[in-house]
Amino acid sequence: MLENAKQMIEKAKERKYAVPHFNINNLEWTRYILEASEELKSPVILGVSEGATKYMGGYNVVVNIVKGLIKDLKITIPVCIHLDHGSSVESCINAINAGFTSVMIDASKYSLEENISLTKKVVNYAKKYNVTVEAEIGHIGGSEDSNSSNIAYANVDDVIKLVEETNIDLVAPALGSVHGIYKGDPKLDFIKMEEIKNKVNIPLVLHGGTGIYDYQIKKAIECGISKININTELQIAWSGAIKNYISENQNVYDPRKIIGSGKQAMQNKIKEKIELFGSNNKY
Ligand code: 13P
Repeated sequence: MLENAKQMIEKAKERKYAVPHFNINNLEWTRYILEASEELKSPVILGVSEGATKYMGGYNVVVNIVKGLIKDLKITIPVCIHLDHGSSVESCINAINAGFTSVMIDASKYSLEENISLTKKVVNYAKKYNVTVEAEIGHIGGSEDSNSSNIAYANVDDVIKLVEETNIDLVAPALGSVHGIYKGDPKLDFIKMEEIKNKVNIPLVLHGGTGIYDYQIKKAIECGISKININTELQIAWSGAIKNYISENQNVYDPRKIIGSGKQAMQNKIKEKIELFGSNNKY
């Protein structure tokens, strides 16, 4: 059943667990994520970056793959199709027009005023279609930032201003997490996280879920995080299993066998995250 992110995340906020956002890249990943989430009865957000959308063929391809799998595999859990890090108003509109149920406008590289102005435009459009909008503030960098002092932690007053002036549904404040592998230990600002939770009335999103210790994930959920994004850890699990398979089966050339050899490792990782986030048996 397709749902927008707001519906499933409001419930998570109330009941103190986090909805998993897993990035998808192709048909197989989408299928593995849906099957594992269905098995554990967890709502799930399928995050699709602009790059992954392009790779898969376009926004309509993504929506039709997800809808087709939901129907043919008889998936009953709530599923959201979410544009991850939409870089422009136009991208968000294209995703909404194709049937995405949630979009992120990432205008975090601009000034606060510009971020607010672009985000507002997306919200105005999305509301007409009951589509959820997530925005980012501060800057959640890549792993190249993880060991340095140039992570732009969000400023609490800026977060409040962004939320109040745009009427977004979800906010992703940069609080020390980064995308990809951490070089040192992740340093999340839980004090700020809790302060933001108490000052804004909408659920918070944690990007860069890969490599954050389990105890930190639990603490983040206590401090107001209701959606956690995971991508790199699935890539590592899937590609690691495939590399092993190929090295042990040099004469196999059937793509279904090669691609499918990553399924088990990836689904184990998905289930591990669902249990850690506490979203199993929640619908
Ligand atoms: P990781 O790749 O670090 O898991 O981050 C995923 C993410 O935040 C997608 O928006």
